[in-house]
Amino acid sequence: MRVTDTSDLWWKTAVFYNLNLETFLDWDDDGIGDLEGLAHRLDYLADLGVTCLWLAPMYPSPRQDNGYDISDYVGVDPRYGHLGDFVEVVRTAKDRGMRLIVDLVVNHTSDQHPWFQASRSDPSSRYRDFYNWRDEPPAEQRANMFPDVEDGVWHYDEVAGKYYEHSFYRHQPDLDTTNPAVRDEIAKVIGFWLQMGVDGFRVDAVPFLIQSDEGQREHEYLRTLRGYVGRRSGSGVMLGEVNLPYADQVDFFGNEEGDELTMQFDFVGNQQLYLALARQDATPLIEALRSRPATAPTNQWGNFVRNHDELTLDQLSEDERNEVFEAFAPEERQRIHGRGITRRLPPMLDGDPRRISMVYSLMFSLPGSPVLYYGEEIGMGEHETLPRRSAVRTPMQWCDEKNAGFSDADPEALPFPVVEGGFGPEHVNVSDQMHDTTSLLHQVRGLISAYRKSPEIGWGELEILETGHPCVIAHALTLDDRQLIALHNFAPDGRTVTLQVTEVDSSTRLVDMLEDRPYQLDDEGRLEVNLDGYDHRWMRVIRSGSKRLV
Ligand code: NOJ
Repeated sequence: MRVTDTSDLWWKTAVFYNLNLETFLDWDDDGIGDLEGLAHRLDYLADLGVTCLWLAPMYPSPRQDNGYDISDYVGVDPRYGHLGDFVEVVRTAKDRGMRLIVDLVVNHTSDQHPWFQASRSDPSSRYRDFYNWRDEPPAEQRANMFPDVEDGVWHYDEVAGKYYEHSFYRHQPDLDTTNPAVRDEIAKVIGFWLQMGVDGFRVDAVPFLIQSDEGQREHEYLRTLRGYVGRRSGSGVMLGEVNLPYADQVDFFGNEEGDELTMQFDFVGNQQLYLALARQDATPLIEALRSRPATAPTNQWGNFVRNHDELTLDQLSEDERNEVFEAFAPEERQRIHGRGITRRLPPMLDGDPRRISMVYSLMFSLPGSPVLYYGEEIGMGEHETLPRRSAVRTPMQWCDEKNAGFSDADPEALPFPVVEGGFGPEHVNVSDQMHDTTSLLHQVRGLISAYRKSPEIGWGELEILETGHPCVIAHALTLDDRQLIALHNFAPDGRTVTLQVTEVDSSTRLVDMLEDRPYQLDDEGRLEVNLDGYDHRWMRVIRSGSKRLV
């Protein structure tokens, strides 16, 4: 199947931006970010070039897991505003050319959700079978996702006098999604938010969501959900969290028409990227890209550098993981669950601006759609002493004034303290970077602009070009007569790279997409490029008759 009408498949060339209302901008100065705050920063995000916002859970919640513990699926946490404010944000974002997706967290609820309260206290309640109850836990339990906090996935509930299942924290009982009544409720949740104007969902914990009691994956349910989203909203996307090896992950896209998840995060590519960074050798990333499964044309990969969780390294071998730990998380307190790192990228790279720029350049040039985590565009760091995943969930740094310009409230009232030290707001903030043309913010804006002029990144064929230098990844993306060639050097010292450009005639030219640099192709289409340490390039190949904007 070849899809030529790209206009409705917006996710193929989208720029996603993930933020949590709680820490983005506090408009009423109660210490907690809110919808009105976000509304006042929509122009900033549109100017950055973002095309789709991903809002972290903003539902009523006891917030024992950053909002991923939901007690009401069809409401907004009153700390953020109300549904009217939500609709204003959706509407204003659309006006600025941005879509909005929300988290769909239906593998589990909070234990404070009325469904669980009814289920645990009343055996005759219609909600009893919304959860899995057992008199005894099974002899062999699968591993809990938070192994340093929970020792299994079955927990005894005093009220029910039985055990219930929880893949994550014990306060997050798993819904029984094989129960048709649960499926009906989930459908209503999806229908509700689509009616509120969202363009789809980031779907939490998908492998757990479709797991049956017998441990089978019910892909039929994912197909049902996707079909339903598609019927209710032509533009609705399902961007799924599936952290599995490619061979298993590809099944979650569905058949050759791509009838399950629309998009998936590339966790394998992400983990191999960090291994490559640790080794200063691009080979692990190149191998990941070579083995990344082909998808249906309507599907897409979501490329990311960091997200709101730990940087999980669970798919690396133990030796590989230790290499990354030693390079980027030398201290035990920077590690979590025995598998991940609780730091943001810039401190891991000792704040080296060349290396940080190289990584973001790479993210925007890899085949797929980029997903930014708030603050990445200015190079925010983590809070060094905040425990666990909170370290990367600190207030957005808008300026170097009180509370980084996030809120005028007493600092004690903030959900998390502002980052201190070398990555604190005196050194890293939006206001300063807006006025500095050498800043990361300017560079990211330039990268997004180049990405948006290059639909071959979202749609094209990938080819890894030979360079003879393991520290350099050279990749070409081709779509019809469009071609982009990108070079990224993982080593601290320079390299001269010779590339072979194909289908060259006397009028073929190469134009740099990020800076004003000349390139000279020889008669055979060979090109020599001098790369500095941690350097990067984006080159547009202009062939005769091409009318491309560079
Ligand atoms: C994945 C989310 O990204 C994470 O933050 C959360 O703790 C778990 N799912 C449980 O919802």
